[in-house]
Amino acid sequence: MTEFSSLTRVIRAGIETDTSQGAVVPPLYSSSNYTFAEFGVPREFDYTRSGNPTRALLGDALAELEGGAGATIVATGMGAVTLSLISLLEPGDVVAYPHDCYGGSWRVFEQLGAKGHYVFEAVDFSDTEGAAARLRELHPKLVWLETPSNPLLRITDVEAISAVGHELGAVVVADNTFLPLVQRPFDLGVDVIVHSVTKYLNGHSDVVQGAVIGKTQEHADLFNWWGNVLGLTASPADSHLVLRGLRTLEVRIQRHLENALAVVEAIKDHPAIKHVYFPGLESHPGHEIAVKQQNGFGAMLSLELVGGEDSARRFVEATELFSLAESLGGTESLVAHPATMTHASMTPEAQEAAGITRGLLRFSIGIEPAADIIADLKVSLDAAVLEESLSPALGN
Ligand SMILES: Cc1ncc(COP(=O)(O)O)c(C=O)c1O
Repeated sequence: MTEFSSLTRVIRAGIETDTSQGAVVPPLYSSSNYTFAEFGVPREFDYTRSGNPTRALLGDALAELEGGAGATIVATGMGAVTLSLISLLEPGDVVAYPHDCYGGSWRVFEQLGAKGHYVFEAVDFSDTEGAAARLRELHPKLVWLETPSNPLLRITDVEAISAVGHELGAVVVADNTFLPLVQRPFDLGVDVIVHSVTKYLNGHSDVVQGAVIGKTQEHADLFNWWGNVLGLTASPADSHLVLRGLRTLEVRIQRHLENALAVVEAIKDHPAIKHVYFPGLESHPGHEIAVKQQNGFGAMLSLELVGGEDSARRFVEATELFSLAESLGGTESLVAHPATMTHASMTPEAQEAAGITRGLLRFSIGIEPAADIIADLKVSLDAAVLEESLSPALGN
């Protein structure tokens, strides 16, 4: 028998497994409950909160994709963050987390910390030496990584930080939402991977879902157990949609990566831009680490505009292709203003510490033809500077 690649197994997840009708794609099992085979003898599934055939197929596919032992599929990416924390931590445990992580993760860390459940300490993981020294002071039970970070695309050396975490006895968790297929955290020493499935994995902006993937069976079982206990598990219908999205993940990602590179090359010297944040640029401080641990640079980029918030607003008013919306990783190109959108839950001080300014725009580069994306960006960036340079008399 041919031993197919992991990617082929993901693309074909559940294909030709329907024994009742011979359906090629797996059917959606929406039933909330399942009959017992006989008195006292449950079948593989009994109740959809604890297990469901459609969701189980997706869990197996995501575990296969990341090279883990098993995945728990939950209702949202934040559900995945919460599930991993509650499953792995005891009261009073210390968690080291990136000072510039996703705003929703920051909020749950802050709020659980404020309630006194755990102790959360922000660390700048883009400075490997400094972060290692800080971890040795903190002795965390859990090290939380998110690389590239959101929205400034800072890079963490996952291998180096995981090694320090393990030396201190910590569990290392990586949020790999930005780089499925492109970055393989388990190969770099991480123990647990979290995804907002909402993003690239589903890829069509029509599902909100999360996943926690354990490298070991012990961790995978723990997350499944707590997922059921806390009632966080995802709906079968959403899982069915995500299975469909996964089948095109690789072709979508290839196009996202190509488009992002082409876009950055075309606009990086535009006069409206003060700074381009993109790990593919050789000038990016994390470029070499990104080359070492990623198979591409992702399709997220952020621009600091010369004219600050006014320019950001003008850009957003001028663009005809970038939808002003939160989220990322869908086929369509999006623009977000982190300070007032994705990271609005952070205090102004936390935003400042993370480098989030009012003139920063974050882009999720979609899979439309690159020439159209570039044409729209150029017109919108021109609009952002043109009015900026008008004298007040002319402008009003
Ligand atoms: C990196 C990252 N992690 C987690 C989340 C939370 O995911 P969800 O919105 O699916 O709850 C997001 C959402 O934007 C994210 O960008």
